[in-house]
Order: sequence, then C-alpha cells, then structure tokens
Amino acid sequence: PVYRATTTAPVNIAVIKYWGKRDTTLNLPTNSSLSVTLSQRSLRTLTTASASAIYPAEDTLNLNGKPQEIQSSKRTLACLSNLRALRKSLEDADASLPKLSALPLRIVSENNFPTAAGLASSAAGFAALVRAVANLYQLPQSPRELSRIARQGSGSACRSLMGGYVAWRTGELADGSDSLAEEVAPASHWPEMRALILVVSAEKKDVPSTEGMQTTVATSDLFSTRAQSVVPERMDAIEAAIRDRDFPKFAEITMRDSNTFHATCLDSWPPIFYMNDVSRAAVRLVHDINRAVGRTVAAYTFDAGPNAVIYYEEKDSELVAGTVKAILGASASGWEGPFYEGLANLT
Ligand code: DP6
Repeated sequence: PVYRATTTAPVNIAVIKYWGKRDTTLNLPTNSSLSVTLSQRSLRTLTTASASAIYPAEDTLNLNGKPQEIQSSKRTLACLSNLRALRKSLEDADASLPKLSALPLRIVSENNFPTAAGLASSAAGFAALVRAVANLYQLPQSPRELSRIARQGSGSACRSLMGGYVAWRTGELADGSDSLAEEVAPASHWPEMRALILVVSAEKKDVPSTEGMQTTVATSDLFSTRAQSVVPERMDAIEAAIRDRDFPKFAEITMRDSNTFHATCLDSWPPIFYMNDVSRAAVRLVHDINRAVGRTVAAYTFDAGPNAVIYYEEKDSELVAGTVKAILGASASGWEGPFYEGLANLT
C-alpha cells in the first residue's frame, strides 16, 4: 500500500525579527521573535507526504515540480530523522501499527508564490513538510512540540505551525528543547488585522538569510545590543500591544524592529543590503500616510529582501492599501507587483 497525508502551511511575517544563531547545528536563535501568521487563502505551501515499500529506497523531495537534493540538506534530514524516531517509538509501543518508519518517504511540495523571494517560503515549506509527515505518521505531538522539529529545518518555520500571533522563545537550554514556538494570541483576538505584501522583486535574494545572519553575528558591533537589550524589551511591549489591540504601539515597534534589523545588516562587514530604493519609497510613504492622517494607521516591515509587508486594520483599508497601490503601483515607481492582500491571519 501507499500511505499518504496532505496538508498546507501558512506564511508568517515577523514583526520582531529572528536574526542570529547561537547554535548553527540545532538552529537556536540569539533572540526571541514574534510573527503574524498570514491567511492560507493568499499564501501557502501545499505538501503531500507518502510512504511505501514500492518507492526507491531513498527518501525524495520535490519542490514546485523540481527534485531536490535531499541527501545534502542536513536540515531536511534532521527533520525527517526526528519525525521517524517519533514514529518508531509509537511502533515499538504498539506492534499492530504498520512499520511506516522503515519505509521510504516521497514528499511533494508546492508554493503558490515565488520561492526565495524574501516571502518566507522556507518557513511555510518546512512547516508543511513537518506537519505532513507528522500527519502521515499519526504523531500525537502538539504544534508546539512539532515546532522543535520545524525549527531545525528553518528557524522561522517553527512559527508557521500555529495561527495568529506567534512567539518563538529563544530558550536557554543547550539542547534546544526549550526553543519553541507558542501562540501569543489566536487570529480571532484581532480579526481586523490585515497585511499587504508588495512584491518589489521576485528574484532570488542576494544573501540568503542563513549566511547573512552568520556574517552579522560575526562582524556587527550593533548586533549584540539588539539581541541582548533591545529585543527583550520589544517582545514584552509588542505582546502588550497585541493583548490590548493597540495598533499604533504595535505599528511603531514593528517598524522600529525592521529598521534595527536592517541597521545590523548595514553594520555587518562587508555590509548587507536587503532594502532597495523602492523599499525606501515604501517606508517614506507609510510615514507620510501616518503623518497626513494624524494617527498611526500603517506599519512596514522588511525581511531579508526588498519586498515590503504593510500591516493595517481593516477599517483603514482604503486609506492604506488604496493609497499604497495608487502611489507605488504606478508603473514608473518600479514595482513589479503583484500585491498579495489578505487577512493577516490563519483561517
Ligand atoms: C529576516 O528562518 O530563513 O525573515 O533558520 O537559517 O533558515 P534559517 O533562517 P530563516 O530566517 C528568517 C529571517 C527573517 C526574520 C524572521 O522571519 O524572523
């Protein structure tokens, strides 16, 4: 027989950025981070995991129609061996279960958005892979427990196993067992939240995040201040802003943390630039909108690439999304589009 499970996982966009590892093998971060999970109606990874004795002996992974070199991907291998070990312990405890842990796996994954365009594709990708195999293996582990495995695939992936507002706690233990994601608030707590994604460029990014953060950790003087004193305070403050649904506070912390993260990139040696002229035009426009309206109605954030994500509340859609599209959407501005618009939440 062929045993099979299909699942989807959403994209998440951090408002307090993960940037820097204290352990590169276990993928443990130097600071906690917090993200908003986007609706799967706009962006998601769809993954099918199957296991069968009729498959070739080695596990295979196909991403967007292309076979991937799974054997050279330590991260994928780490996720799969963790999941297999959990399945094996179920089989050891119950002899009536089929021995799926001994069968080769076939994993087929598809994004409905450009891969490696700074749209956190690795986050949704590894989250979907872990959840699909966990479903196939009928593992009893909670999303929080599975986040420990997804984290080893890609740090940000641990936050895509949950909906709503998700924190990844850096943890203190050397084995990483307390470096896990947890839901800070469900999507339904703040249903007015929206995200607009402006695709400045769907090209692959210049410096992949794994490499970029290593350079920052090794060379930036600003980095340790951000990780040790700036982020812990911001985590507390943004969790309070989410609890109180205080958009101006949420927005200011989000924008400031994006700016601090990009400042540590610029402070790296050699410097790393992720934002470009169009990204900076989006920053200016958001500040102009907020100033013109007389209150904070929009917040920008940028990951390891030039694309902007703009958060706002539903009641300000016309004001924010309407203005951004009208001004930056004009062909002369250099936007490639498309605009992905969605509930900033998991459904
Ligand atoms: C800027 O999770 O892609 O998007 O753990 O090396 O795979 P690895 O890094 P990754 O880094 C994401 C960096 C970021 C910020 C964030 O999502 O928190």
